[in-house]
Amino acid sequence: MSTTTEFDEYAPQYDDLVRSPIRDKFSTDSVFFAERKWQLLQQYLSRRGLDSHDMAWLDVGCGTGTLLRLAGEAFQSAAGCDPSSEMLETCEDLQISVQTESTRLPFDADQFDLVTLVCVLHHVVPGERRALMQDVGRVLRPGGLVCIFEHNPLNPVTRLVVSQTPVDRDAVLLSSGEARRLLGDAGCVPSRVEYFLYLPESLYRRAGRIERLATRVPLGGQYAAIGTYDVG
Ligand SMILES: C[S@@+](CC[C@H](N)C(=O)[O-])C[C@H]1O[C@@H](n2cnc3c(N)ncnc32)[C@H](O)[C@@H]1O
Repeated sequence: MSTTTEFDEYAPQYDDLVRSPIRDKFSTDSVFFAERKWQLLQQYLSRRGLDSHDMAWLDVGCGTGTLLRLAGEAFQSAAGCDPSSEMLETCEDLQISVQTESTRLPFDADQFDLVTLVCVLHHVVPGERRALMQDVGRVLRPGGLVCIFEHNPLNPVTRLVVSQTPVDRDAVLLSSGEARRLLGDAGCVPSRVEYFLYLPESLYRRAGRIERLATRVPLGGQYAAIGTYDVG
């Protein structure tokens, strides 16, 4: 039984439906937003002395696979899942599975060293988020990492973009505090919250250093909440 949903309907025009006039001023290229996330993850892994080439990665709610396509080769293995089979339609080049239950991932336990959820949880009804994250914990290996990327509800521009974006009709944004609690539900100890996407692409390309100084200021357009799975 598939639980989806509206994303099957959005899938054929997904790239157009995530655009809005304000988002376009920031960047017209979806890959820019994925690149920023991959950059942030790489910096985190390198600070922790971890090599992605030794890691099995799962991207939950991978959608059309933009991040998997960008970063997959840097991992020992890279897999994705999504409840929307239509979103996965363009992912024949990737290792993907349809997720038939909204809170149950289609994988055996103890499979992954890194699980990412990129702009997924604001589409999961609040009452189901905890169960989904508990299942993320099930598929993680001890010491594995979870990284939640989300829109930052404290940023007024983000809220405006979300309110104008058809794909976000059902969105219920979550604070970084809630993301930290959800990491706990996955059995993880939160280790870092980082805010990013302060500057539009053109400025970022010239003055990205400024953003790196602001990672703790909770006003970036998005944030990453990262935790380590702790079985002890
Ligand atoms: C805004 S899209 C993001 C897609 C992709 N992560 C990206 O960043 O391009 C949200 C995705 O979350 C998926 N999704 C919704 N509910 C989900 C759930 N319960 N478990 C996993 N994925 C879910 C949707 O099908 C959709 O593909």
